[in-house]
Amino acid sequence: MLVYQDLLTGDELLSDSFPYKEIENCMLWEVQGKWVVHGAINVDIGANPSAEGGHEDEGVDDQSVKVVDIVDTFRLQEQPSFNKKEFVTFMKRYIKNLTPKLEHEKQELFKKHIENATKFLLSKLNDLQFFVGESMHDDGATVFAYYKEGATDPTFLYFAYGLKEIKC
Ligand SMILES: *[C@@H]1O[C@H](CO)[C@@H](O)[C@H](O)[C@H]1NC(C)=O
Repeated sequence: MLVYQDLLTGDELLSDSFPYKEIENCMLWEVQGKWVVHGAINVDIGANPSAEGGHEDEGVDDQSVKVVDIVDTFRLQEQPSFNKKEFVTFMKRYIKNLTPKLEHEKQELFKKHIENATKFLLSKLNDLQFFVGESMHDDGATVFAYYKEGATDPTFLYFAYGLKEIKC
């Protein structure tokens, strides 16, 4: 199994259980998230709702929680939205922190293409949700999520070069 950590903080952000698609000249990874229900185990064991068990069933339902699989699995922490100015400030700092950590070839590609990828994100800014890794470290990557038109499940966007692949 492969796990993808935030190159700057070591937080686990993704694994190969979630297929990704490279977009924006491989600057971003697009990953499909999914709403899943937790805690709803054994709801459907044949208990008749009209029988005595009915009350207990409600108890089970109360404990079930809807979560987004990626957020839940990697304990991503949602942050307040960025406005345009905050987003640009974040990007400048992130690029400054990440660039020196990349190999030479990747540095060149990053410098060449990250601007257009930033524009792509800016064009979606009002629709984006913002997440950081579990440590909530200031210098870490931001993971974005949004709903494509008509979608009921969120699509996530990762900075491809900000991820470190770990075999485990
Ligand atoms: C950035 O996007 C513009 C407009 O789509 C395009 O003309 C330009 O070639 C792109 N730049 C790079 C480095 O890909």
